[in-house]
Amino acid sequence: MSGLALMPETVVGADELWTVALNRNQNLLGKTMLVLNRACTAVAEVNPEEWTALLCQIQRLSRVLDSLFSPDQFNFAFLMNQDAQVHLHVVPRYAGPRHWEGLSFDDPHWGGSFGYEQRFLSADHLGRLAQSLRAALEETDVSTPAASQWAQRWQASWGRMEEALAPARQWQLGGLVELVEALAGPTPRVVDLACGTGSLAIRLLERFPGAAVEALDVDPVLLAIAKATFAGDQRVRVITGDLRSPGWAEALGDGEIDAVVTSTALHWLAEPVVRRLYRDLAGLIRPGGLFAHAEIMPITDAPHIGEALASQRRAGGADTRARWDEWWSDVEADPDLRPFWSAREAVFSSTYPATEFSPPAAWHREALLEAGFQEAGVVFRSGGAATVAAIR
Ligand SMILES: C[S@@+](CC[C@H](N)C(=O)[O-])C[C@H]1O[C@@H](n2cnc3c(N)ncnc32)[C@H](O)[C@@H]1O
Repeated sequence: MSGLALMPETVVGADELWTVALNRNQNLLGKTMLVLNRACTAVAEVNPEEWTALLCQIQRLSRVLDSLFSPDQFNFAFLMNQDAQVHLHVVPRYAGPRHWEGLSFDDPHWGGSFGYEQRFLSADHLGRLAQSLRAALEETDVSTPAASQWAQRWQASWGRMEEALAPARQWQLGGLVELVEALAGPTPRVVDLACGTGSLAIRLLERFPGAAVEALDVDPVLLAIAKATFAGDQRVRVITGDLRSPGWAEALGDGEIDAVVTSTALHWLAEPVVRRLYRDLAGLIRPGGLFAHAEIMPITDAPHIGEALASQRRAGGADTRARWDEWWSDVEADPDLRPFWSAREAVFSSTYPATEFSPPAAWHREALLEAGFQEAGVVFRSGGAATVAAIR
């Protein structure tokens, strides 16, 4: 067995992790393959990020094949009997004949496993088939003008929703940018952790046009909006990564990191995960570099005031939650985001974490010092929201 050499004319799409290619054997119209981009011979070694991306690709490709040829069913097969490279066969199945460009296609084994008959199209037909798939796939791609439009719409609506949930949001995000300016210089390399749609990355780039930003999140919907927002912008890398996974930082590029910032996100993580994350960050950020974290951090030094503010927040909790759920219902109903929505369901079982970890600022300060940061402390506060910053 050898690796899988794709003929360029059969390649119809790709993302960072998977390539979509037409099968040269078109005994079943629209037979395609999803080929893992990195060298890998065992399906058991496909990592969680690759599985999530594969699911997205399966959804896009199925949608496109549905629109072009209306198959009655799909078979999916990792065969790898001849090619030692992970690839998934996507095999449309047909209850009756299909006609395309003057050719007729049957599925003589409909109802059973797909057949292995060989049917090679002329170069002209193969080229046209590839072109129609390519064009249809591009429509579902995040780097098209259409994607840029839905991204703008969703970006604005995410901002409105988050501001309604966290009235201090503008000020929190502005504070993080201010800290980067003060401590990381005019052309920083910054990581926006749990970036969501990239709201903070947008502000960082407005303030530092020469910055390099890596924006990492785990949510396929929010990542799709972020990717479509920054499509073609070489200064930004939008990365899929799960902070719950110990290897999350492997997705970051090489080189020194001047600052890591994060807003209203780490309460999604359990205490041991945040502790481990802080240790990871102490190893990643260059000496003298910055970590800044804006979150709900309950007030403890004025307990009555703290409790009054917290109870006010709890009282508004149902409305807050309703607004959040409404936003996600709108996402679910949007056909542009549907493939990403389905992929999201594989990552999170609900739209919000079952339990939140929101300790006081003092907890973060101590955990950061323990992790190896030189100094750490509250640098901004607005009611129950605070920003803790630390120097590596
Ligand atoms: C309330 S949103 C805030 C997003 C963004 N920082 C902002 O201010 O707009 C919380 C973010 O944390 C992300 N998140 C939650 N758990 C995560 C994890 N394990 N790994 C990476 N991101 C995660 C969610 O996907 C979501 O984007």
